[in-house]
Amino acid sequence: MTESLLPFSSIAAAALFVLSLRWLSSTKTARRGVWAGVLGMLLAVAGALLQPEIVTYKWIAAGIVAGTLIGAPMAIWMPMTAVPQRTALSHAFGALAAALVGTAEYYLHTDSLGTFTMTALTLEVLLGCLTFTGSLMAFGKLQEILPTRPITYRGQNAFNLSLLTVAIGLGVYLTINPGATHLFPVFAGLGLLFGVLLIIPIGGADMPTVISLLNSYAGLSACAMGFVLDSKLLIVAGALDGSSGFILSVIMCRAMNRSFTNVLFGAFGTVQASAAGPATQKVVRSTTAEDALEILEVARSVIIVPGYGMAVARAQHRVRDLCDALEKKGVQVRFAIHPVAGRMPGHMNVLLAEADIAYDKLLELDDANLEFPQTDVALIIGANDVTNPAARSDPGSPIYGMPILDVDKARTVIVIKRSMSPGFAGIDNELYYMDRTLMLFGDAAQVVGDMVKALSGAGVMH
Ligand code: TAP
Repeated sequence: MTESLLPFSSIAAAALFVLSLRWLSSTKTARRGVWAGVLGMLLAVAGALLQPEIVTYKWIAAGIVAGTLIGAPMAIWMPMTAVPQRTALSHAFGALAAALVGTAEYYLHTDSLGTFTMTALTLEVLLGCLTFTGSLMAFGKLQEILPTRPITYRGQNAFNLSLLTVAIGLGVYLTINPGATHLFPVFAGLGLLFGVLLIIPIGGADMPTVISLLNSYAGLSACAMGFVLDSKLLIVAGALDGSSGFILSVIMCRAMNRSFTNVLFGAFGTVQASAAGPATQKVVRSTTAEDALEILEVARSVIIVPGYGMAVARAQHRVRDLCDALEKKGVQVRFAIHPVAGRMPGHMNVLLAEADIAYDKLLELDDANLEFPQTDVALIIGANDVTNPAARSDPGSPIYGMPILDVDKARTVIVIKRSMSPGFAGIDNELYYMDRTLMLFGDAAQVVGDMVKALSGAGVMH
């Protein structure tokens, strides 16, 4: 009876995955999309656990306990600003699982593996291994345990490409001669090494694109695993994951003005570090919350540019209060949203929506850039890389070519941040030394809170 229901649970799970992706593509239906994905996964796991081939649940139970002990605290306690790192770890674990299943299948059934299964298996193990180490490297860079700057050396691309060619050659050899078991660890080892080398040359600002590409690789590895295990649901789920990650990578590449082939081969870092001199040699004009308010109150139009610092300071509600208070004084206030501001796609949209800031006040990058030249004040709250003019003017900069918000075109620029420290890309920002720029040093929540109090007549707190 239970067995006859299994195909239906697979079909229902696959349908829910498709609907989930459909619903996730709009903010209005995104919650429904998440629940559809969760339900689909629940059905898929339940279906897998009811397979008649299972002889004992001992190791499965151990796996569930270990997974819950790692996954639950990660989901509960990791802050929202650490979501990209958490995602990188999920890709790493998923890819490791695929690589291990492939390895187990290889050693258990070496004598009976046909050419088709071996092709899928080598693909699964290669993608699984390189995604595992690549995702761990991405985690290290995003967590800033590893340097976020690109690490490049002469002949890097040629070396990486040769390594990949050797790995693929070994995979083909193993497909034709599955009995050459002594070569399998070398093959897997090359995959692991390639994952590390693929991420090393990629700079901090390009990590969002890399994460979505690693997502795609993990999905393709799971899809190949579906062919090895003859699981239609895994094939469908892996293909959906792989293709949606691929599409997201293409969209991110367009948004970041990056060549897709460069991303595929990890050649982002071919540019050298910016030639900008140390920050201490240049003049910075700092201001106070009171003086900044005087400028804001007499402005006709203000565009607020939120960034990662606003998320860290959890300042979004105070920013909404500031927006309301300025609007009461007749100032037009809008928000400019950069596609990679913060640490995850849509990060700023989520925070501003949480603070009930109306969507019609939000300007996308291109529209905002048309508005800056007619804007009195660009108020930057905890954003850095997404406003760095080096992306337009310095071919030596790691972010050169990335579209930025042209805040430097506004009549006055006020920047709220705590210090002269660089942003995620680890590079100096020329914007801070411009004549029109005023630096307002402090925690975003504290500074914006002070401004709101002063506007409501309670005076600025020190
Ligand atoms: P960043 O360039 O990272 O700059 C954030 C700035 O916020 C820092 O310079 C920091 O300066 C300031 N800050 C930190 N805490 C603060 C606080 N409590 N109060 C006030 N300021 C604070 O941020 P961004 O402009 O949003 O750019 C995002 C960067 O992350 C890009 O390089 C992007 O490529 C990368 N990235 C994005 C994503 C996605 S998908 N969005 C994923 C991974 C990486 P102080 O320390 O001086 O305060």
